[in-house]
Amino acid sequence: MLVRFLPLLLLALGGLGGAQVLPNRFYNFTSPANYSNSNITNATTSYQRVTNLWDGFQVARGTITHVVEPLPIAKDELTPPPNMKPLHCQYRLPKDFIWGWASSASQIEGAVDADGRGPSVWDNVAHKVPGFLKKNETFDIANNHYYMYKQDFQRLKAMGVPYYSMTISWSRIFPSDSGEVNKAGLQHYIDEVNYLLENGIQPIVTLYHWDIPQVLQDKYGGWLDRKVVQDFANYARVMFEALPKVKLWLTLNEPQVFCNDYADWPDEGVPDHVFPTFGLNSTQRKYICGHNALLAHASAVHIYRTEIEPKYGKGKISFANSWDYTPSYSNSSEDILASERSLDFTAGWFGQPVYIDGEYPQSIRDVVYETLPRFTEEEKSLVLNSTDFYAWDGYTGHPVRASDDFSSCVTSQGDSENWPECFDEVFTLPGDWLIGNRADVGVSNWLYQTPRYFREGIVWAWSHFKPLEIIIPESGFSVWKENEMTEAQARYDDTRVSYLHDYLHQALKLIHEDKVKLSGIIAWSMYDNIEWRQGRDTRFGLQYFDYNHMKVYFKKSAFYMRDFFNHYMTQE
Ligand code: GAL
Repeated sequence: MLVRFLPLLLLALGGLGGAQVLPNRFYNFTSPANYSNSNITNATTSYQRVTNLWDGFQVARGTITHVVEPLPIAKDELTPPPNMKPLHCQYRLPKDFIWGWASSASQIEGAVDADGRGPSVWDNVAHKVPGFLKKNETFDIANNHYYMYKQDFQRLKAMGVPYYSMTISWSRIFPSDSGEVNKAGLQHYIDEVNYLLENGIQPIVTLYHWDIPQVLQDKYGGWLDRKVVQDFANYARVMFEALPKVKLWLTLNEPQVFCNDYADWPDEGVPDHVFPTFGLNSTQRKYICGHNALLAHASAVHIYRTEIEPKYGKGKISFANSWDYTPSYSNSSEDILASERSLDFTAGWFGQPVYIDGEYPQSIRDVVYETLPRFTEEEKSLVLNSTDFYAWDGYTGHPVRASDDFSSCVTSQGDSENWPECFDEVFTLPGDWLIGNRADVGVSNWLYQTPRYFREGIVWAWSHFKPLEIIIPESGFSVWKENEMTEAQARYDDTRVSYLHDYLHQALKLIHEDKVKLSGIIAWSMYDNIEWRQGRDTRFGLQYFDYNHMKVYFKKSAFYMRDFFNHYMTQE
């Protein structure tokens, strides 16, 4: 494919600073046993067919279908709420501490078929698998941010938010597999980034937040095929060249999550014609996805360091990890081993190859040896040290303890029903106490307010991976039943304020007491949005989004964050 599309690609990138392909040596894929690409068919799609990519979709459109010039934020919108929590810690944050609000393209943009965009896998499942998203939600309109971004960014500015973490929709840039860049999609992000900068807000850009173009899924199984590495690298280069003023990049958001989706979706009712997986079983899907994700990330970083930084100056780049911090429930040696095992399977899966030795953790190798792809020596050195900082989406944690049959379980190769985890998750402490305040029960079951595990998780990542610095690109909370509240009730989000209060104060202790180089925390999310499979049924926003009138309102938590950083940031 690379050879086939190279001329087109060079043509497309000509205006963007000249393309290079990665040396072939990065593409010697050591396949696991049983893995073959032979049944993967060649693409029949081409750029000319972009509009046809939406055949069979009934795309909904909002009433606003052009970029709107912003209105001033009314003064009374900035009237602070009553009863704010006092801020009286003696520590201060460094003057260059990064803070801001985050979002992701699919979850907020809408305008899914505008300006030549093609469908992503999430558009596809939303439209084609009934009930896969709650209430058959789609991403078609979402918050209409694609057209409202100027207004949305004026609100950040009014609240004094210095950083905004955004993601790019890959299928706006490469809607098809032709290798041709969709200029309108690219221009949109250039405009967005320029608008942020003009308004004094620094962009943090993530290249991939789970929304691979459907065309790549149809063609070769998306993250399941080695070809994705080159396609992602090409896409990354286009974005780096187009947005040279962006100095903080994340290649991938949470490969732990999207590779688990690759494992799970087919078992959760997504038919193969909607999400083709080319005969791979779920374990293969999970680990092959992870392997290709690591190589794609590392290839993008290689491009960034060798082509982009020499031309445009130094930036920082990493990828965002998703894991719950899972300390040992007790001091027993089995519980301690169970905790290590648990962290290996989540943080270690992507962390060890990048931060430690270019290898997967031994416990993963023991479990999925036959399935786990292997890195060549050259790939190891490509992957190792392929970040400038460690990024953890630090939402929550909970203890784990060894399963009753722990020692036989770990070697049981499937004979124990507890295998391969061999540990139990604990959410209740002695005295029958919950580990922390629960988030939106029934929709965000994984999430508890656990500031202690937030702090311990960061200390653990700091000592385990020994990165140069740590940034938290996402952390946030969904208030229980917020979606059933009136706008006024939802805006008075004291539970979210409490979460932010507890977590943000940990940052002060991490820096001053634990001596961690924690450089930033970004809150999820700028406003309520489409929470993936939960659709609009839960809310994570620091601003309330009224979907009936497409209007945005600051919540109390937005003011809390502003006040926290006004108070604790060391001034120039
Ligand atoms: C993160 C994810 C976000 C958002 C958030 C809240 O893991 O990156 O897209 O959904 O969780 O659940």
